[in-house]
Amino acid sequence: MILNLIVYCLFPTFISCTVNWEDCGQADRSLVFHKINFKSDKIIIDGDEPIQAEVDFSVLDPFDYEVTMSAELRRYFKLLFIEKSFKVPCINDAGSCSGSFCYFVQSYANLARSFADSLHAPFNCAMEKGRYAGNITYPIPTNVFNKIPSVITKNLSGKYELVIRWYFGDQEAGCLAIGSALQINP
Ligand SMILES: *[C@@H]1O[C@H](CO)[C@@H](O)[C@H](O)[C@H]1NC(C)=O
Ligand SMILES: *[C@@H]1O[C@H](CO)[C@@H](O)[C@H](O)[C@H]1NC(C)=O
Repeated sequence: MILNLIVYCLFPTFISCTVNWEDCGQADRSLVFHKINFKSDKIIIDGDEPIQAEVDFSVLDPFDYEVTMSAELRRYFKLLFIEKSFKVPCINDAGSCSGSFCYFVQSYANLARSFADSLHAPFNCAMEKGRYAGNITYPIPTNVFNKIPSVITKNLSGKYELVIRWYFGDQEAGCLAIGSALQINP
């Protein structure tokens, strides 16, 4: 989900983060996103303010324990007026990571549990067919910062895009793209 992005928005300094999103799935996808609206245009992350978002999506075919996912996080920047990007590697489960969906749900258990509670869904990576909607409020614990190596946190301003795809075997089941402009206000 937006787990990696959220982790990416979390840094010990004062950060504001504007987010947009798109359902990039194929016509026959199993996971359909209707809405991911952050409460304000800017997400201020200063260690006190919780992240608030309204989330609404449908699961058309149930997720079993075999579902895998792959995330690609790219950072865009301008060099001599030319826009370039590079793929942020997977470090401590943040960045361009792939693997079992259940593994990531466990790795981000606190966030996933709060997600599930807000959506009135059981905390389980196997998701039943249905429509899931709710308002998510997640106070960011400062120990999440420990996950991110300081070499990455040094120079963060820029544009980021995160594309997450879910798979049933080798068939794509869903795709979510999230773009975010990060501004750091130290
Ligand atoms: C989320 O909260 C808004 C008001 O803050 C409300 O209008 C909306 O219905 C809520 N959404 C869900 C899915 O509960
Ligand atoms: C931060 O990164 C941007 C683009 O990636 C670069 O132009 C800038 O010089 C960097 N700043 C520092 C302090 O490294």
